[in-house]
Parts: sequence; structure tokens; C-alpha cells
Amino acid sequence: MSAPTTPPTLSTTKTVRDFGQPDGLFRSCMNIIRHSHTKGQLLRTFFIISGVFSDKIMYAELLTQFYVTTECLDLILSESESEIASSVLNSELGKYKRFCNDYATDLEHLLGPDHLRIINSYKSEAAIKYIKTLKENNAKVELRDASLLAGIFILWGPMIIGGGAMLYPRVKKAYGELACSTFTLFIGSGREKRKREFIDFFDSVGERMEEEEFNKVVELCGEYMRMNNEMMVQVKRRPWWVKWGVGLGISLTCGAVYVYVKKKKT
Ligand code: HEM
Repeated sequence: MSAPTTPPTLSTTKTVRDFGQPDGLFRSCMNIIRHSHTKGQLLRTFFIISGVFSDKIMYAELLTQFYVTTECLDLILSESESEIASSVLNSELGKYKRFCNDYATDLEHLLGPDHLRIINSYKSEAAIKYIKTLKENNAKVELRDASLLAGIFILWGPMIIGGGAMLYPRVKKAYGELACSTFTLFIGSGREKRKREFIDFFDSVGERMEEEEFNKVVELCGEYMRMNNEMMVQVKRRPWWVKWGVGLGISLTCGAVYVYVKKKKT
């Protein structure tokens, strides 16, 4: 059975998943990340509620985690001479090569001239571990291709087919158009086409793979998605207004206790 050729409106994660071939690589990768994706969605909601769009440092720290890991993946892709790397670069996905430069442009805008030093200080333990894993897997011949594909699925996928691009209006409203380079390749007309290209790329690569290789890609997708979440969990910054909010809360509580005690005495 083949997947529908032109998806209508792909509105939920499961709907998008179902546009992959039933036993294809795309659908298998979506299946393995199902639980951790739900956790990722909750984490993103947590960030929105806790002020990621009212504190640019918090946003920059979050963006940093995805920048440093995507930069590592993009370098691996650029330097690789493997067949898989060329099929990525020669496919429709080739246009996303080095999109991490757009993350860098936004971080420079948000953090100013000292951005490189600040980015380094924001890099979480989880991001460092993620980068180490990407490099180690790339150094192992038997994991190299699977790791590259899984990295692309997990680090590019959220922008091309997932909820990443949907953050554009909020980021623009909070920090201005100059902080939105990251979204350039993923917004505007043609989203359904971009989704379709991504889905078809993974399914067609998967069709040509041995079962063992196929399973490795799926397994690594699960591992990298957990690492995405871990990076989000490790963001330390809380919005600037939290300490004022806490201060105000303490003052109000003290005031209420004082009034209560005074009333009791009289
Ligand atoms: C850091 C990791 C991720 C987070 C925090 C995340 C978060 C989200 C959120 C919050 C949504 C809901 C969209 C919205 O309401 O704005 C969403 C949708 C979606 N995500 Fe993810 N996601 C992550 C990774 C991924 C990955 C790796 C994939 C697969 C490549 C993926 C695929 C999707 C799809 C297909 C949708 C549905 C998009 C649509 O409705 O058109 N996500 N994600």
C-alpha cells in the first residue's frame, strides 16, 4: 500500500506520521519518539508558561542548545563523504545544509557582540553529551550513516515538519523580526511540500536499507529525541521578573501575616 501523494492539511503529529509509508522509515522513527515527543510538547508548554517569550536570555539559552548540537551535525554532514550524506545534500533536504548559521545570526542579535563567549557558557551538560555522542557515533563505521540520518530527523525535523516553525509569530512579537532568521527556511508558502519532501526522503532511503541499518536509525532517533528533551530540561535561566514576583509574593504574605497577628492582639 502506498502513502497518499498530496497530503491535505497535516494538522497533528499522528496525521503527519500517517503520511509516511506504513512500515517505512519515517513512520517507524515517528513511532519510536512518540512518548518522548509528548514530553517535548509538555516541556515547550512549560517554557511558554514560564516566560520564554518575556525573557530574551531564557530564549537565547534554549536556542543555544539547539544551535550547538545542530552545528555539530551540520559539520559532520559537510565533511562526510558517505553515500548517505550525498543523498541528503543532493535531495530537496540539501537546502537546509548549514541552517545552524541562522541560529547563530539570531543568537548574535539577542546576545550582542560577546555572543560567542556567552553561547559557550550557556551550553548545558546535556548538549555537551549530545555533541560527544554525535561525534562518537560518526567515528564508528557501523553507526555513521544511521547517526547522520537520525540526527537530521531529530534536529532538523522539528523545524521542517514539526512545531518549531509555528513559534515564528511568537518570537517575532517578543524579540522582533531580526531575531527570526532561524525560521527563514521553514515559514511561508510551501510548508506541505516541505513536509512531503522530508517524509519521502526518509521513506525512500529506508526502502534501500538492510533491516539492521534501518533499525539502527530508528533506535538512534529514540536516543536523540530523549537528548533533545534533556537539553530543554537543563535550561537554567528563569525570567527576570520571577525574582520580583517572588519578592512581591513574600512581601504580600508578610503583610497579610502582620495584619492578621495585629488584629488577633486587639
Ligand atoms: C525538542 C523536541 C521537540 C519539541 C519540543 C516538539 C514540540 C512540538 C509541539 C509543541 C508541537 C505542537 C505544535 C504546536 O501546537 O505549535 C509539535 C508538533 C509536531 N511535531 Fe514536534 N517537537 C519536537 C521534536 C519533533 C521531532 C524530532 C519530530 C519529527 C521529526 C516532530 C514532529 C512533529 C510533528 C509532525 C508535529 C505536528 C505538526 C503539525 O501539526 O503540522 N517533533 N511538536
